[in-house]
Amino acid sequence: KTYLNTQTFGNQGLYLFETIDSTHTYVSNNLSTIDHGSVLLAYSQTAGRGRRGRKWSSPIGKSLSLSIVLKEFAAQMKPTLLTQLTAAALQQALSETGLPIAIKWPNDLLINRRKVAGVLTEAMFERQVLQAITIGIGINLNQSQTDFPTEIHTKATSLALETEAPFFADKLIAQFLQYFEQFYQDYQQSLDPEPFLSICRQESAVIGEIVTVVQGDKRRDVEVLGIEATGELLVRDLSSQEQMTLISSEVSLRNP
Ligand code: ATP
Ligand code: BTN
Repeated sequence: KTYLNTQTFGNQGLYLFETIDSTHTYVSNNLSTIDHGSVLLAYSQTAGRGRRGRKWSSPIGKSLSLSIVLKEFAAQMKPTLLTQLTAAALQQALSETGLPIAIKWPNDLLINRRKVAGVLTEAMFERQVLQAITIGIGINLNQSQTDFPTEIHTKATSLALETEAPFFADKLIAQFLQYFEQFYQDYQQSLDPEPFLSICRQESAVIGEIVTVVQGDKRRDVEVLGIEATGELLVRDLSSQEQMTLISSEVSLRNP
């Protein structure tokens, strides 16, 4: 709280957990009692989730898990755009460490091609009525390489590994919430996603690169051309030369 400089996010409902199954699961089980703008913080999760039911590793004392609950938003504010707004805010906050932070469309933050943080946005419904959009952020703070599950040893990194010193997150959280609030308020007023999308383009780890798109059991190699105003990814298929846009909920990007 000492560093917090926001009006809404983190300054109204602030929930702190030492250990929880998942901050996202907590929100979905307590939807009616959690106000707009609430922030949930956990020092560890026993069942953190990523996209499409994948696991997010968040061990105690080494990681930071956050959920932000939005109940006041315009219809234009689609989850994919809010994911990119959040990725841009996180990129700006993490960059204050001096480390090179790139955004892998749409939801991953990378340092030298290794994932240091991720964003997961979920629309939450009760009796088929949309109640909230919850944005989750997982950040790797103090893991050593062997703290990560074996299958991601070469794909993940932490801020401590990169800076070669223990990392204290208090300022980072406050800075992130400040960027997030600024982007969110501006977006709510203007409904113009360009300010944060331009950061996603500028700091992109994939624009100009050849990547493999995995869609169900189909794979294809594409050149990434850009990010559209809708938040979709514009690519050129390398075998058909055809241009197309990709929707984030349907694809994963891999190194070819
Ligand atoms: P990818 O392109 O790597 O599949 P994605 O964004 O499509 O990423 P998500 O479901 O969002 O995949 O992320 C979950 C994945 O992140 C897991 O499958 C795992 O490989 C990886 N992962 C899990 N925990 C961590 C962590 N703490 N740090 C880095 N990566 C992690
Ligand atoms: C990713 O898969 O890249 C995104 C991971 C985001 C995980 C966050 S941590 C806080 C919130 N609670 C969860 O269970 N998942 C999200």
